Amino acid sequence: MCIHYRYGNIFKTHALGSPMIVCMDPQINRYMLINESKIGLVLAHPDSIKNIIGVNMAEVNGTVHKRIRGTLLSLIGPAAHRDGLLQKMDRCMRSFIHNWAGKTIDIQQKVRKLAFMGSLEQIVENEPSSFYETFEDLFVKMSLGTMSLPIKIPGTTYYQGLKARIKLNALLEELLAKRKASSVTHDDFLDQLIRNNGYNSSEEIIEQIVTILYAGYDSVSSTAMMTVKYLHDNPRALQAIREEHFALQQNKRPEELINWDDYKKMSFTRAVIFETLRLANVVNGLSRRTTSDLELNGFIIPKGWKIYLYKRETNLDPFLYQEPLTFNPWRWLVSSSILNLILLCIKNLLLINEDKYIEMQEKGSESNSYNLLYGAGGRECPGKELSISRFSLFLHHFVTKYRWEEVEGNKLLLYPRVIAPKGLHIRVSEY
Ligand code: HEM
Repeated sequence: MCIHYRYGNIFKTHALGSPMIVCMDPQINRYMLINESKIGLVLAHPDSIKNIIGVNMAEVNGTVHKRIRGTLLSLIGPAAHRDGLLQKMDRCMRSFIHNWAGKTIDIQQKVRKLAFMGSLEQIVENEPSSFYETFEDLFVKMSLGTMSLPIKIPGTTYYQGLKARIKLNALLEELLAKRKASSVTHDDFLDQLIRNNGYNSSEEIIEQIVTILYAGYDSVSSTAMMTVKYLHDNPRALQAIREEHFALQQNKRPEELINWDDYKKMSFTRAVIFETLRLANVVNGLSRRTTSDLELNGFIIPKGWKIYLYKRETNLDPFLYQEPLTFNPWRWLVSSSILNLILLCIKNLLLINEDKYIEMQEKGSESNSYNLLYGAGGRECPGKELSISRFSLFLHHFVTKYRWEEVEGNKLLLYPRVIAPKGLHIRVSEY
C-alpha cells in the first residue's frame, strides 16, 4: 500500500533521533523548493555526507551558493554543451563503448567506470594512468563512506571514507600546485576553474571537483544501468530508440561527432531517460531543515525540525501517471497529446522555428508541476543537462552497435538504493 494512503500526504515521524516531517505532496514540495530561502529552509544532509564531502556547494547558501553554482553551470550547463563539451564527451564515449561484442559483461560495473572516468577525464586531462587509478580507488572509498553510519572507529567504512577524503585533498592540492606553476594550458575543467575569477581559493576548486564527481557518480551509473534493463525488457521501446539513432546516423559520416543539433533531436531517448528516472528513483527525496517556525498547510513546523520532501511516491502515483509501474517512455512525449496540438498551432501562428518548437515540446512534457526528478528552484540539479547528454550518448552508441541479452540470475534492488548487488550481467553481440 502506498504510504500516503495510510498516513496522508504530510506526516510527522522520527529519524535518527530527531523529529521529521515527511511531505509527499508534489505541489507543496515544489512550493518549498522554489521558496526555500524565503521561508527559511536550508539543506540538511546526513552527517556522513557532510563530514566527508565537506563544505561544498550543496552546503552553502545565499550569495556564495549563487556564485559557485553559476561557475559550475558555466562548465557543464547547456551553453558549454553547445560550445564543444558534447563533442568531447562523444569522443570519450566512443572509446569507452568499444569492443564489447562477443563478451559477457557486468553493465553495472561498466557504467560505474563510465560515470567516474567520464567525469574525471573532463576535469583533469593527460595525467598518467597511475594518477587516475589512485584517484578512483580513493574516490570509491570516499563514496562508500558517505553511505555508511558515521561511526568514527578505525576499520569502519565511514572511517575509511574520511581517510580517503583527506588523501584525495592532498592529491588534488599537489595537482593544483603543479598546474599553477606551469605555463602549459589544458583543455579541461581544472584549467577553467583555475582561470575563473569566481573561485576564491584552491580549497573551493577542490570542493567543486569533488562535488562534480560525487553528485554524478551513483545517480548517473544507476540510471544508465536501468536504461539498459528497461530497454531489454521492453522491445517496442528498444525498437523506437534504435530507429531514432539510426535515423540520426544516416545523415552523418561514422567518424562525425554528435553535436548539439543531433542531441536536440533525441526526443525519444530523452523520454526513455525520464521514464527510467521516474521508475527507478535514484533520488528518493530531498532533506531540508527549518531555520525558524514554518507554517505549512495549516500546521506549524518548529524551528530546527527536518523536512523530508519525498518524491518516490509522487513518481509512482496512479493519479499522476497512468499505469505507474509500466515503463512507458511515450508518456513523456507531447506528440500524442492535446498539448502538442496547441503547440503546433502556436508554432504555425507565430512562425516559430523548428528548434524553438522542439524546445517547447520538451518543456511541455517535462515541466509538469509534479515532476521533481531533478529538483526545483534555486537548487535544481545543475548537472541535469550533463547527465541527460551522457545517457543519450551512451544509448546512441550502445543501441546502434550492440544487441544484448541478460544472463540468468541477476538480482536488482530499487529501494533504498538502485543497485544490482551482484552485478547486472549481459551477453553482448554485434548489432
Ligand atoms: C541521474 C542523474 C541526476 C539526478 C537524478 C540528479 C538529481 C538531483 C536533484 C533532485 C537535486 C536537488 C537536490 C536538492 O534540492 O536537495 C540535485 C542537485 C545537485 N546535483 Fe544532481 N542529479 C543528477 C546528476 C548530477 C550530475 C551529473 C551532477 C554533476 C555536476 C550533479 C550535480 C548536482 C549538484 C552540484 C547539486 C546541488 C545543487 C545546489 O545545491 O544548487 N547532478 N541533483
